[in-house]
Amino acid sequence: MKQVSIGFLGCGNIGGGVWRLLSEMHDELVLRHGIDVCVRRVLVKDIPEALALNAGKGLDVPREILTEKAGDVTGDPQVDIVCEFMGGEQPAARFMLDALENGKTVITANKVALALNWAQLQAAAERTGAGLWYEASVGGVIPVIRVLNTNLEADRIDRVMGIINGTTNYILTRMSQEGRDYAEVLEEAQKLGLAEPNPEADVEGMDAAYKLSILASLAFHGRVTYQKVYREGISSISAMDIAFGREMGYTLKLLAIAKKDGNVVEVRVHPTFLPHAHPLARVDGSLNAIFIHGAYCRDMMLQGRGAGDMPTASAICGDIVSAASGDRPFYPSFRNTVEDDPSFEFTNDWTTRYYIRLSAVDEAGVLTRLAACFSQENVSIASMMQKTAAKDGLVQLVFITHPASEQAVRRAIGHMDGKICRLERMIRVEE
Ligand SMILES: NC(=O)c1ccc[n+]([C@@H]2O[C@H](COP(=O)([O-])OP(=O)(O)OC[C@H]3O[C@@H](n4cnc5c(N)ncnc54)[C@H](OP(=O)(O)O)[C@@H]3O)[C@@H](O)[C@H]2O)c1
Repeated sequence: MKQVSIGFLGCGNIGGGVWRLLSEMHDELVLRHGIDVCVRRVLVKDIPEALALNAGKGLDVPREILTEKAGDVTGDPQVDIVCEFMGGEQPAARFMLDALENGKTVITANKVALALNWAQLQAAAERTGAGLWYEASVGGVIPVIRVLNTNLEADRIDRVMGIINGTTNYILTRMSQEGRDYAEVLEEAQKLGLAEPNPEADVEGMDAAYKLSILASLAFHGRVTYQKVYREGISSISAMDIAFGREMGYTLKLLAIAKKDGNVVEVRVHPTFLPHAHPLARVDGSLNAIFIHGAYCRDMMLQGRGAGDMPTASAICGDIVSAASGDRPFYPSFRNTVEDDPSFEFTNDWTTRYYIRLSAVDEAGVLTRLAACFSQENVSIASMMQKTAAKDGLVQLVFITHPASEQAVRRAIGHMDGKICRLERMIRVEE
């Protein structure tokens, strides 16, 4: 039997889940894989506080393995695998680097530290022969990292579209199903523990953008940094736009989208309308799903719990078993660099359909003038809906375009006379 000693960096929600799962699954892991996993050291910020918190959660982490010094975990010669569950970029990335430099395999659930320091972490791992595992950093328990990194290694992936932030999917689902406003649903999500007290990283799309940079790099076999991801959040989405979109056959999601055509790459996170029948449109609540298209695999979709202590712990423990039972470390096949892959041409002029809502004066000839602005830029209108507003006498005009260039749509809107209309909202529509 192989003895495997683990060190934890942090023991909050996810660390607690991993502790629990390793305790419950210990004997099965011995039987199935011949590995005896034992947690040897746990880094916490404050030992008395951690003991009290653990007792409250029914976690029996012994006092003698707790430490307030990261070096006791990353430098312990008897620790084989260091699992990082602290969150945030620093000091998490520094501690992981220390562990790797000491030849210890690192397993992390931390998309921020990974997305921003992946090249340095991988280089350190390769230098010392350690492993670097991060299945839980994207999509919780959904095995998307493994699928991209191994199963689809012989395919040519050209599209990844995902719902990879459960908080925003919960908020948009409630808004869609109940016609409620953003602020009210956000408050409810915070009370339920589904949104952070400071929700910015989720609702403004940063969380999804970190994850997309990891997915796109793996899918396209070249480094796509976080800085290249175009990002818009959901905080200014109104119940009115969701309702109008629904009426026109669309469901609103915060999508993370990566596409590659030749060397041209687009990576973007923004609210997106999808036809009701699209498989991603039916992924509701806090679930996550990732849709992948490749030259040979064609369409596929992975769906499951993107967060939560035990689903995430399941992914992390899967990494522990793989790292402990594999005979050699495994790294992605592309050159993992600090900068973007130089062979990629990043574009911000993608082609898609658009939902455009304008407030317009209710006069003869207005529609003709607006149509002229679209046609001047070769933007063709697929459908249109008009709603009379109750208060200010302005009408709401909603256009859905045929596929058009982003920059052409922006120019067309720029041509419109501010005396007759105002842009209220532009939302991209995918198919
Ligand atoms: N929660 C999920 O469902 C989920 C899903 C997938 C991935 N993840 C990722 O998993 C990681 C952990 O998330 P979590 O939900 O477990 O967060 P959490 O509950 O806040 O746990 C983090 C723990 O690390 C501790 N910590 C932070 N900095 C530390 C330091 N310098 N030294 C010692 N301890 C430190 C924190 O202590 P204090 O509380 O005292 O600061 C806290 O106990 C994050 O990277 C997150 O993105 C989470």
